[in-house]
Amino acid sequence: MEIKGKVHYVGVNDRNKSLFENLWPLPYGVSYNSYLIDDEKVALVDTVDVCYFEVYLKKIRSVIGDRPIDYLIINHMEPDHSGSISLIKQYYPNAVIVGNKKTFDMIEGYYGVGGDRLVVGEGDVLDLGHHKLNFALIPMVHWPETMVTYDATECVLFSGDAFGCFGALNGGVIDTKINTDIYWNEMVRYYSNIVGKYGAPVQKALQKLQGLKIEVICSTHGPVWTEEIPHVIAVYDRLSRYEAEEGVVVAYGTMYGNTEEMAEVIAEELSNQGIRNIVMHNVSRTHHSHIIADVFKYKGLIVGCPTYNTQLYPEMEALLGKLAARDIKGRYLGWFGSFTWAGAAVKKITEFNEKLKFEAVGNPVEMKQAMKEDVALRCRELAVAMAERLKADRN
Ligand code: FEO
Repeated sequence: MEIKGKVHYVGVNDRNKSLFENLWPLPYGVSYNSYLIDDEKVALVDTVDVCYFEVYLKKIRSVIGDRPIDYLIINHMEPDHSGSISLIKQYYPNAVIVGNKKTFDMIEGYYGVGGDRLVVGEGDVLDLGHHKLNFALIPMVHWPETMVTYDATECVLFSGDAFGCFGALNGGVIDTKINTDIYWNEMVRYYSNIVGKYGAPVQKALQKLQGLKIEVICSTHGPVWTEEIPHVIAVYDRLSRYEAEEGVVVAYGTMYGNTEEMAEVIAEELSNQGIRNIVMHNVSRTHHSHIIADVFKYKGLIVGCPTYNTQLYPEMEALLGKLAARDIKGRYLGWFGSFTWAGAAVKKITEFNEKLKFEAVGNPVEMKQAMKEDVALRCRELAVAMAERLKADRN
């Protein structure tokens, strides 16, 4: 499948895996993108998950037939992309692996692969004949060895995971030839869950790429971007700045519905106060990847749960741990909790916010056993405080 000039798509689709990294659901599957530049010298850019090697090899051969691969460029070493390195080297033993210093340490560690190598650094150029490839290091997007390869001849950026998203490719691969609707939410979920902790390195990478004329973005997951490049860059820019819309995520745990009643009262009052974007999640039912994505989307977060074995309700503890691990900045947090004989939930969430470092809003509400008028009133006061904090940002 030709992308531009002599650049071909040779990636594969995975509609079998339920959980990416055994953690994140894939309702639309995922693609592992790889690209072949069929120039005087042949270069393969990144590989695919090793489970798909047979179909991958067929795709490569459909482009180059019996010609050898001269260079195997590795922009990123996570095994969803590096997994086929050993097999590629078995089929193409003379392929020179191209990577930076950190890449080769990982290649040896993961695959024990030796042979010819070309160590590249910032600004180095590899001439394939017609295509001139430039390398730029973008460490910690989202691993230390990550780099991008820029084809100055065709203005194609091979960006690794940057600008990627979940979602297999159904037929076409280029944005202008497919319906891209499903990919935008999947981009937010991909970014927030996989890359989310590394906002500052992503910002550095975006600044580094600013001067380049980019007509095509070939990332390792999701569509090849052309017309939608400004939209894609805007999404990554906004998310990596931790910028968010006005809105509140109400995430709650509940065992018998009593704590859920608190969440309902809070949400209703948020709406009364003129907040339109309110997203409610039962933390035991909604996969946390969706909740994390919504926390990246909206500025306000209100969490609440029952006390469980004198601790936090386990699913809430898990969610808060995942949020804390992402160093999300600039969010407002309100919280509530319940207990039957000894309260711990509110105290534990208060302690958790030392890790989250979100701006505390309003007074936490603690309920004994079931909803009463004074509890409902305090829930409404918490919602009003959150709405006022959000509205203060309107100007
Ligand atoms: Fe798609 Fe970081 O691997």
